[in-house]
Amino acid sequence: MKGLILSGGKGTRMRPITHTAAKQLLPVANKPILFYAVEALIAAGISDLGIIISPETGPDVRAVVGDGTRWGIKITYIVQDEPKGLAHAVKTARPFLQDDPFVMYLGDNLIKDGVGPLVTRFNQGKADAFILLREVANPSSFGVAQLDASGRILCLEEKPAKPKSNLALVGVYLFNKNIHKAIDEIQPSRRGELEITDAIQRLIDTKFHVDSHILTSWWLDTGKKDDMLEANRVVLDEMTEVAMEGQIDEATRISGRVHIGKGSILKNCIVRGPAVIGKDCQLEDSYVGPFTSIGDGARVSHAEIEHSILRENTQIRDYHGRIVDSLIGVNVELTRSQTKPVAYRLMLGDDSKVEVV
Ligand code: DAU
Repeated sequence: MKGLILSGGKGTRMRPITHTAAKQLLPVANKPILFYAVEALIAAGISDLGIIISPETGPDVRAVVGDGTRWGIKITYIVQDEPKGLAHAVKTARPFLQDDPFVMYLGDNLIKDGVGPLVTRFNQGKADAFILLREVANPSSFGVAQLDASGRILCLEEKPAKPKSNLALVGVYLFNKNIHKAIDEIQPSRRGELEITDAIQRLIDTKFHVDSHILTSWWLDTGKKDDMLEANRVVLDEMTEVAMEGQIDEATRISGRVHIGKGSILKNCIVRGPAVIGKDCQLEDSYVGPFTSIGDGARVSHAEIEHSILRENTQIRDYHGRIVDSLIGVNVELTRSQTKPVAYRLMLGDDSKVEVV
């Protein structure tokens, strides 16, 4: 069984953050989202992994993920010239996949439970495709499945205006070689993409066997800023490995599950977990509240930060205010020339310089 992770696409919904970075490299609890997919596939026993990349952000993905030696696996990069759809990505990966069965994992998805049991179920069963479904409140933002009373799939539709159910397709799929023929037989959708949803529908129409499982544990599609913050919240909430590798002074108070990386120094701070502070950070006279991730090398003084993601080397100096529900890119400089307390919700792309006056 091979693994195929989709890390191409344009990431337009996450601009300005994704003007300079692949959305799959954005950190959740200080770890790129993509790593969760790679590690889930490895935990399922998969050691031959293909990653779809785009010409624009592919070099960054390669640089961050590497060739797989850090995990003892093989990673093959497959460039998809344009984001013409999930089924188009599979078509592009055909030379890598050959006729082998594979797990396809969307690089911006996070699921709580691993894929190991699904791989076992697929290998032992007779299905040609296996899909995961989950009840959602906004089905028209996803692929949607309609099941009959016995749980058999009746039909699948991609982002329907009038969804026939509230069961969304989760971004983890298992296929055997029959998916390739189905992809060859579909046409681009209204949005001009070759949809994997249509290819699975084609399998159903041509009497192949498509099995499904309804997830009850959490699943997150990190398409937008608030989804990223929610992913960060959920992962931090479940964080069990905490460590204090940095230094704190006597005035600093830490409560709850807090991870502080090597070389970080905290002076006169309050940190309430769950929270993670990376390596080589310097924090002074500040409050870090629950569900906050601060990337390596950040500098923060006189600020209150809660339920936010600050990327690497962000500088928030003499801020005298509160930052909540925010996603702040790499190397951002944020300063404020007033001391009247305020609170901001921010989405700042990499290298921004903001002075609030
Ligand atoms: O998240 C689950 C949903 O994912 C499913 O419910 C939908 O049925 C499925 O179509 C997909 O919808 P999205 O609109 O969320 O897909 P998105 O365009 O965000 O792409 C998902 C991932 O695949 C993302 O990491 C980018 C990558 N991708 C996307 C396209 C269109 C590629 O690598 N190549 C592509 O051509």
